[in-house]
Amino acid sequence: MSRIAYVNGRYLPLAQAQVHIEDRGYQFADGVYEVVPLYRGRLLDEEPHLDRFDYSLRELQIAPPMSRAALKLVLRELVRRNGLGDALLYFQATRGVAPRDHKFPAKAKTAFVATMRRSRPPSAKQIEEGVAVMTTRDIRWARCDIKSLNLLPNLLAKQQATVAGVFEAWLVDDDDNITEGSSTNAWIVTADGRLVTHDAGAAILNGITRQRVIKLMESEGLTFEQRSFSRDEAMRAREAFLSSSSSFVLPITRIDGKPVGEGKPGPMTRRLREIYVAAALEAPAVI
Ligand code: PDD
Repeated sequence: MSRIAYVNGRYLPLAQAQVHIEDRGYQFADGVYEVVPLYRGRLLDEEPHLDRFDYSLRELQIAPPMSRAALKLVLRELVRRNGLGDALLYFQATRGVAPRDHKFPAKAKTAFVATMRRSRPPSAKQIEEGVAVMTTRDIRWARCDIKSLNLLPNLLAKQQATVAGVFEAWLVDDDDNITEGSSTNAWIVTADGRLVTHDAGAAILNGITRQRVIKLMESEGLTFEQRSFSRDEAMRAREAFLSSSSSFVLPITRIDGKPVGEGKPGPMTRRLREIYVAAALEAPAVI
């Protein structure tokens, strides 16, 4: 079955889905996006994803492409037309089409596209044995809380990780603290058993999976800290893991070639993945 995309009001086969070459997303990355997981027919944390989409739009003064109710209908129709049960929904809004000029156009209509593809979740081996990460300098801008289309530093970091043969790159700021991964949030369990992740603010994207994990930890009565942690502290951690819409909770067992703890996924990480998946299955199915 050919994939169906939504492009500015129309559902089209992917090959026929096109945007204008003067779309400001294409020329300036002047836009924002979201990725929402569809897991066994369930859209996970749809409302928080839509809240973050609204936030990103507001911060960049881009008009919403449509009402929330209409956007939810588009996503459901896309799910129906693509006939997938396990997928990632991608949607982006840009400031629209205008002759190239840095300042905002006086009149532009927000452009909106949405696509969907089969998910490529981590393998059973990666979940069982954990993955490796490397560290690299965080060269991004000062507003990483906005889910903007400007992803070049993230792409460079992920490519470095790929060339190094590891799953993810952890980004290190000027104070030697780990902010997050190139497309995932970063977590450690410290040597004395505390769960730590960087505080939400302008230095990281406040992941929806991260927020869900925090809620689950609260309901489990686990204590955690939202604060900076250094690369050194990470190297001494008992456990480490990453979170994202595509990987959920995934154990990390090597950082820059050194084993984390005993080099195996730890009990906290396993438990969090388990309860994350269980909670995901409680969401209502949309197909
Ligand atoms: N990435 N940090 C960054 C820089 C990200 O790009 C992402 C998501 C996350 C995790 O956020 P969430 O839990 O909401 O997926 C953290 C998406 C999946 C992407 O760009 O494809």
